[in-house]
Amino acid sequence: MVHEVKGVVARSKGQPVTVETILVPDPGPGEALVAIQACGVCHTDLHYREGGISDDFPFLLGHEAAGTVEAVGEGVTNVAPGDYVVIAWRAPCGECRSCLRGRPWYCFNSLNATQPMTLQDGTPLSPALGIGAFAEKTLVAAEQCVKVDRDAPPEAAGLIGCGIMAGFGAAVNTGNVSRGDTVAVIGCGGVGNAAIAGANVAGARRIIAVDVDDRKLEAAKRFGATDTVNAREQDPVEAIREMTGGNGADVVIEAVGRPETYEQGFYARDHAGTLVQVGVPTPEMQIQLPLLELFGRGGALKSSWYGDCLPTRDFPILIDLYKQGKLDLEGFVSETIPIDAVEDAFHKMERGEVLRSVVVME
Ligand SMILES: NC(=O)c1ccc[n+]([C@@H]2O[C@H](COP(=O)([O-])OP(=O)(O)OC[C@H]3O[C@@H](n4cnc5c(N)ncnc54)[C@H](O)[C@@H]3O)[C@@H](O)[C@H]2O)c1
Ligand SMILES: [Zn+2]
Ligand SMILES: [Zn+2]
Repeated sequence: MVHEVKGVVARSKGQPVTVETILVPDPGPGEALVAIQACGVCHTDLHYREGGISDDFPFLLGHEAAGTVEAVGEGVTNVAPGDYVVIAWRAPCGECRSCLRGRPWYCFNSLNATQPMTLQDGTPLSPALGIGAFAEKTLVAAEQCVKVDRDAPPEAAGLIGCGIMAGFGAAVNTGNVSRGDTVAVIGCGGVGNAAIAGANVAGARRIIAVDVDDRKLEAAKRFGATDTVNAREQDPVEAIREMTGGNGADVVIEAVGRPETYEQGFYARDHAGTLVQVGVPTPEMQIQLPLLELFGRGGALKSSWYGDCLPTRDFPILIDLYKQGKLDLEGFVSETIPIDAVEDAFHKMERGEVLRSVVVME
């Protein structure tokens, strides 16, 4: 059976997204059909629409989702119909060179559904990050579905599927923020604020939030920032150094995805400090740094793909932190919107009005 459902499609570069009828097949071997309950609007969806990720239009957008498994294909054992799940964009294959070396969080061949979802005329859709969840139903590899506790409502739980996990993991997994560290986070959208929350849970002694928008800096304080810097009013490198005894932060997390903020992060570190890049740049961006500074400052320059998470390990941990009151998932939800308001939500994101708009299905 083929399911005719509504989905949000980016048909061509830079054009407004549209709600279209899409065709979703029943799950084949290893696949799961998920009825989406909620899906957050992440900056990466906008990158897709802008052609910044690839040219494989048309895209079926949406990738921060929670829902209920409706059907599973042959051989699926990890989930069953009726299970409440968060969908992950990493499902380690267990067979690639990275999985075989015991580093499945870098899996180079993450699992996705094999059957395509299509437009009504049969044109195959490219689901964003192998998910495509601004849709009433989506088809994924069953291994992408991580069963979680129903105590977290879908509009909050879904955000774990991308932005919150990416930011939290950038601090805790990639940056290895530990008790007593000083941390600076540049860019305090959904991802940056999740990094702040992660640093807070990990026991950082000072957490400096940097943004160009005071509304984001106010939010950052709620997630555990001890200090804030508006980069339009103060030089962030000088401010971070000043707030860390003249030294710079032990860990800096760049959550904007621009050369100038990367460079600020590079210089705002203490000697032997770590810079974690979680913001996603676009193909034309370049950076130039003196090689001697790279050598002389030492430490580590890392990028964080999805917070180096293992979804089956990390999603339930974040839900438990939420239940303990240590991770305010609802604090990331600025508004809930219907499926036809995604384009508007992109503009609100660009104007800095929201941390997350979350599509909630009727
Ligand atoms: N690495 C990953 O796995 C991963 C996962 C999800 C998202 N991302 C990326 O992370 C980035 C942030 O995503 P988001 O959803 O939080 O986006 P967002 O648009 O909500 O947040 C970006 C923030 O950066 C701020 N900003 C812009 N220019 C700045 C500057 N010059 N200095 C300081 N702050 C500045 C904005 O005011 C905003 O608050 C995006 O590039 C997104 O694609 C990466
Ligand atoms: Zn693998
Ligand atoms: Zn995302």
